Amino acid sequence: MAFSIYVNPRKVLMTISKYIYGHFTEHLGRCIYGGLYEENSPLSDQRGFRRDVLDAVKKIKVPILRWPGGNFVSNYHWKDGIGPKDERPTRFDLAWQQEETNRFGTDEFIEYCNEIGAEPYLCTNMGTGDLDETLHWLEYCNSNGNTYYAKLRRQHGHPEPYNVKFWGIGNEMYGEWQVGHMTADEYARKSREYAKWMKVLDPSIKTIAVGCDDPDWNLRVLNTAGDVMDYISYHFYTGSEDYYETVSTVYLLKERLVGVKKLIDMSSVAKKGIKIVLDEWNVWHRVMDNKLEEPYNLKDGIFACGVLILLQRMSDIVPIANLAQLVNALGAIHTEKNGLYLTPVYKAFELIVNHSGEKLVQTHLETETYDMTGTMFFSRMPFSISNVPYMDAVATVSQDGKKLFVTVVNYKKEEISIPIRIEGLASKKAVAYTLSGPDVSSTNTIDKPNTVDICSEPVTVGTEFKIVMKPFSCTVVEIELTDR
Ligand code: AHR
Ligand code: AHR
Ligand code: AHR
Ligand code: AHR
Repeated sequence: MAFSIYVNPRKVLMTISKYIYGHFTEHLGRCIYGGLYEENSPLSDQRGFRRDVLDAVKKIKVPILRWPGGNFVSNYHWKDGIGPKDERPTRFDLAWQQEETNRFGTDEFIEYCNEIGAEPYLCTNMGTGDLDETLHWLEYCNSNGNTYYAKLRRQHGHPEPYNVKFWGIGNEMYGEWQVGHMTADEYARKSREYAKWMKVLDPSIKTIAVGCDDPDWNLRVLNTAGDVMDYISYHFYTGSEDYYETVSTVYLLKERLVGVKKLIDMSSVAKKGIKIVLDEWNVWHRVMDNKLEEPYNLKDGIFACGVLILLQRMSDIVPIANLAQLVNALGAIHTEKNGLYLTPVYKAFELIVNHSGEKLVQTHLETETYDMTGTMFFSRMPFSISNVPYMDAVATVSQDGKKLFVTVVNYKKEEISIPIRIEGLASKKAVAYTLSGPDVSSTNTIDKPNTVDICSEPVTVGTEFKIVMKPFSCTVVEIELTDR
């Protein structure tokens, strides 16, 4: 048998962090303006929030939202974005070379997070900004005192502190493309100053250091600044026109994350339990302009399904992740003046966020695997870039123990039949939800919004049953466990 799945719903491995399903919104192209925020549009509410976008965002229950960048933040002055909108200055953004009107700022972002029920995650300006400005931002957001910026927030109509818990200390400061880019030692020293004094002002915040692929950078940052950091970030962009090349990089990402974890364990703060924040990830290979409206297809949606189940399995070391990005720019959601459509990447979130339990349970998989030379194997975990599975699966159980979800990705371009064995399950009806489409290159558009979509069908399950999976698809079998 080439493929098989064994599930033991009673063997709970861990609780999955809800923040792995997070998103990122940057002032870039039409992500904010003309995306989630559009003044004077008949589709917007009185706050300027596009109602159709809000509905779509609410459907994927965004648990944490990163803002305002990205590269943008390294030349963003938050004080430009508060107070009466007509008095806010327009500035030229160096990162994406467009004019920033500042009509969407901190208060609007927090309002948006409150509306969708997301935890806000702010990133600080370490390019043109300084520590003073960052401390003022923290005071404006979180202080209940009688100091200037706490009072200013109240004057702007927000008596209660925002209690922003997650603070990124700079963005990709290792990159030559970043305003104010630094060496590892420069960043390590400076970020430590930021995090240290920010925690004096508000000891309850969680700080996120900039990490990357360079082990030397990560180690220097951890050894120097790790004592005042709670997390280290990692970014991953991938993809090409080639389907297998793209989906195989789910397992490259896995290796990279394991690599960062090894450095954490080697560092001087190994005992502190610093975890990884994958705060930008997506397919990105087609566009390199200042709009980044990547036309996502089913290939990319299947990649996203693969990443989401990888994160479900790894959430003990990567408890926070943010898709880059939510709207238009590398966007899961694509808007036009008169409506929107949901890309296959959005559909991956829709499927997995709405059909997963909070607890990861034991599975054993058997699957064909391959490496990038095309050599075929027959193998088990651990999967890696030299042992890529054609089929991957996780099983989760809801917090109350009443529902079991078996999530299966078929990466193959062919239909496959998979025997599934579930320990102690009585025979019964269940529902299978499947994300699929006619071809790996299928896209959704404003005129044909449902080419790639989720459909559901009844299935009979029991201790032993079989599912037949469509080519390049992801299926969740959702099973009631009430009689156990
Ligand atoms: O998401 C687009 C860009 O990718 C972000 O601004 C930057 O952080 C990364 O290089
Ligand atoms: O000033 C920052 C924070 O504001 C303090 O840490 C907190 O106690 C107060 O609400
Ligand atoms: O192209 C994406 C960038 O390249 C990532 O942001 C960074 O981590 C990588 O080096
Ligand atoms: O031009 C976009 C920048 O180029 C990205 O932010 C970076 O990752 C890439 O190298």
